[in-house]
Amino acid sequence: MKLFVTGGAGFIGSNFILYWMREHPEDSVVNFDALTYAGNLENLKSIEGNPNYHFVKGNICNAEEVKDAMAGCDTVVHFAAESHVDRSILDASPFIKTNVLGTQVLLEVALKGNIKRFHHVSTDEVFGSLDLEKSDKFSETTRYNPHSPYSASKAGSDHIVRAYFDTYGLPITITNCSNNYGPLQFPEKFIPLAITNIIEGKKIPVYGDGLNVRDWLYVEDHCRAIDRVLTDGKIGETYCVGGVTEDISNVNVVKKILALMGKDETMIEYVKDRLGHDRRYAIDWTKINKELGWKPQYSFDDWLEKTVTWYKEHQEWWKRIKNGEYQAYYVSQYGKGSK
Ligand code: NAD
Ligand code: TYD
Repeated sequence: MKLFVTGGAGFIGSNFILYWMREHPEDSVVNFDALTYAGNLENLKSIEGNPNYHFVKGNICNAEEVKDAMAGCDTVVHFAAESHVDRSILDASPFIKTNVLGTQVLLEVALKGNIKRFHHVSTDEVFGSLDLEKSDKFSETTRYNPHSPYSASKAGSDHIVRAYFDTYGLPITITNCSNNYGPLQFPEKFIPLAITNIIEGKKIPVYGDGLNVRDWLYVEDHCRAIDRVLTDGKIGETYCVGGVTEDISNVNVVKKILALMGKDETMIEYVKDRLGHDRRYAIDWTKINKELGWKPQYSFDDWLEKTVTWYKEHQEWWKRIKNGEYQAYYVSQYGKGSK
């Protein structure tokens, strides 16, 4: 395959490219990324010299840039997005531009370029929120009901991707996955924020009552799921991808991290709740399991520990990020600096 990967300098995109080059060394990869605050080429240093890997700096909203870079590729894997809910609450407009308009630009160039597969990476957040008191889960047939500007923009992108299949026959697939965690995740997201704050001796901000529940998926499990869909997935289909966790509240995730790091619960600081905060996410991944034989391999406890170790061992990586633009963001979000 000749892959055109968008957003390959971000968290999941860079894990995916490293995974793909390891598992499919005969394939070539073009990594197309605008290098926003979330893009970091340091993530891909180990493959920089690989002749099958090329980086192109460009914006998915710019059709000419996309067309030039996509020439010669046969498969698109689309990760590029504005991805953080809290930033979408502070300013929704880049989310609509990149996630909705940018996705349409990519689809159009892919259609004209006779791309053999357009795989769109989406989120379970498009389905909205589940009740804490119930045990139901999101599946491929759950009605869309997004609440944040981020999830609404991803919902919009999913609909446009399907429209290009229904209307023009572009060969698409979609995965809607749950919250990823693992190495190389930008420390604005909950798990790396908690780990890095603890290392820095700072409190962990927990929104509201801390009882919100997320479904946690180890990033490499996610990469394998996309691999299965690219290889054997059915054109036009959507697959839900989730982790192996029982329902676990945010505060209990923090307590696990504190225990792994030998710290006590006085490090927890309850702060004002996120606006429109979805209560619970849970994923039913029966379809991808039955049709493509995929299931998550990594247990939350084991891989949370490995993730903690990774952040302990890569302090230069996240300390560089936590300087600069991150400081201004932290003040707008939490009302005080991260130092
Ligand atoms: P991320 O924010 O870490 O990375 C996004 C990448 O996209 C960055 O490298 C950034 O530079 C690039 N980018 C942003 N705007 C761009 C543009 N206009 N043109 C080109 N590149 C641009 O995001 P992530 O966590 O790796 O998420 C990747 C994808 O997976 C997103 O589509 C996201 O919606 C989806 N997703 C993420 C999660 C999660 O838990 N992180 C869960 C479900 C779905
Ligand atoms: P996050 O990592 O932002 O992912 P998402 O909003 O896409 O699920 O947040 C995960 C959960 O952690 C979510 O319920 C919000 C909560 N959270 C906090 O309690 N404190 C924080 O500082 C952050 C960033 C998130």
